[in-house]
Amino acid sequence: VGYVGAPGSGGALDVVVDGLARLEYRGYDSAGVALAGPGGLATRKKAGKLANLRALLEAAPLEPASTGIGHTRWATHGGPTDANAHPHLAGSGDDEVAVIHNGIIENFAALRAELEAKGVELASETDTEVAAHVLAGHVAAVRGEGLDGGEALAEALRRTCRRLEGAFTLLAVRSGDPSTVVGARRSSPLVVGLGEGETFLGSDVAAFIGRTRDALALGQDEVVTITAEGATITTFDGEPVEGSPFHVDWDVEAAEKGGYPSFMAKEIDEQPRAVADTLLGRSDAEGRLVLDEVRISTEELAAVDKVVVISCGTSSYAGQVAKYAVEHWCRIPVEVEYAHEFRYRDPVVDERTLVVSISQSGETMDTLMAVRHARELGARTVSICNTNGATIPRESDAVLYTHAGPEIAVASTKAFLAQITACYLLGLYLGALRGTASPELVKEVLEDLHAMPDKVQQVLDGLERVREIARFMADSRSVLFLGRHVGYPVALEGALKLKELAYIHAEGFAAGELKHGPIALIDAGQPVFVVVPPPSSPHGLHGKVVSNIQEIRARGARTLVIAEEGDEGVVPFAEEVIRVPACPPLLMPLLTVVPLQVFAAELAAAKGLDVDQPRNLAKSVTVE
Ligand code: G6P
Repeated sequence: VGYVGAPGSGGALDVVVDGLARLEYRGYDSAGVALAGPGGLATRKKAGKLANLRALLEAAPLEPASTGIGHTRWATHGGPTDANAHPHLAGSGDDEVAVIHNGIIENFAALRAELEAKGVELASETDTEVAAHVLAGHVAAVRGEGLDGGEALAEALRRTCRRLEGAFTLLAVRSGDPSTVVGARRSSPLVVGLGEGETFLGSDVAAFIGRTRDALALGQDEVVTITAEGATITTFDGEPVEGSPFHVDWDVEAAEKGGYPSFMAKEIDEQPRAVADTLLGRSDAEGRLVLDEVRISTEELAAVDKVVVISCGTSSYAGQVAKYAVEHWCRIPVEVEYAHEFRYRDPVVDERTLVVSISQSGETMDTLMAVRHARELGARTVSICNTNGATIPRESDAVLYTHAGPEIAVASTKAFLAQITACYLLGLYLGALRGTASPELVKEVLEDLHAMPDKVQQVLDGLERVREIARFMADSRSVLFLGRHVGYPVALEGALKLKELAYIHAEGFAAGELKHGPIALIDAGQPVFVVVPPPSSPHGLHGKVVSNIQEIRARGARTLVIAEEGDEGVVPFAEEVIRVPACPPLLMPLLTVVPLQVFAAELAAAKGLDVDQPRNLAKSVTVE
């Protein structure tokens, strides 16, 4: 977070700390602030969550100031200690600078050696402190050349950025100029908030949404200078550029808990709306799709002979679900690949490949790098993203936004449902265009999709038993999840939720694979969730999964079965049956994942864990 208020207003600390509280989900292993006032720079920083910094600020208050920067960290170089927390200071007197940083500076070892050769002593193990010293060196040089005020710091930052390799967002203040904050970005997010007589910088708009909804997006390799009056932007080479203005279409309540015990509880409850809003305005009264945002020519799309989905974490499981539907409707192969693997395996991708990236944040570095690689190979790229103006959609040929609203809990829930919905719309669109999905089919699936929000609500309304089971199972050491067809990625997602939230060993398997190895894990009392496809599924799939349940039950497993209402075939072999409303097989994941999310969240809460900010994780991982 960066902030400049009117001179003498003195409120920078509160604005910065409030902004950090809203951004804490991005990383939370240490936090720090620096204020720039008439007396120079003052910093406070502390390992651990923001609460620790707040306690320190109470014990050792700072003089009021109108300008400040603040940071919460997700450690890369050096452990989460007080010394490694940002901001980092360098330089002295009027030219002392405080710097905060997201990302990784890849040539930091060479730069560090250069600084040490000059006798600079470093107080931390971070790459950030190295950048701070490089900046301080340039500040001294630039000021020696006669530049002053905000322009001095901006020019020094541009020179610094030209020396840095890797991905970074940097913010800096200088002691001699308490009316300016400068920022720079390369492959890592930074947005500007334009208030009345006050200006903000943030990793995302949540940092300032309580004070302004008018924002400017920065492009790649740009430096911004903010004062109370506004922002000026240049490239790293000093060419002036205009930022892209945008208006944030959600308000501060959307980024608050609104009476729920956790963001996750709220976001799980918001899922019917997330699906409904993602469908909103994307079909007409005649049941035809309206996807104007897919700005790739129909000729190019009709020529596509392969779809490759790239993403990470939960978003990747949304892609795995979509594969079944898109292949069915479009009759083209769909590969789903982790973004971090894609780039390193010489993928077969060309102009006829449609690369679909799925990212809630739109900033995941692994996914961004994979998108860039796909473009280099000539592919057309579509981004499915939940964050307006984020880097991945900006760098893609087209974007289909999910309208799930801000997702704050680190582990993803409502974004997953919205992503599946958006992928399905895209799949139908492609199928219609290629002639493999008839207008009748498109109309029917759209109707089925529009019925889903109510069905998700019915699932949410009937989860008391799942919560009880979760509380009974709080001491479990291992839980397995089985599924088949679209239920398989749901099993993977159920296992991921439990790992992330409750730190319990959990694995998801394709139910058919069980007999080829994993069944050896089953012994008396092993809890196993089974996601059962509806009895109406083709090729006798339902019966196969019922057999799988019998096989594990015979070996002592505790079977927790998620099945459609009226599916009596599972009852004899299930210790517990969790019911979901009937719906077409391809749409089942929108329902069956919900009990698994609630199970993981409830179990984590029963263990006394922080469901919104699990240990070691961060919501948008902006490093590779
Ligand atoms: C992180 C988060 C996950 C998320 C993944 C992908 O690992 O902790 O919850 O699924 O990133 O994030 P994205 O923003 O690209 O969807």
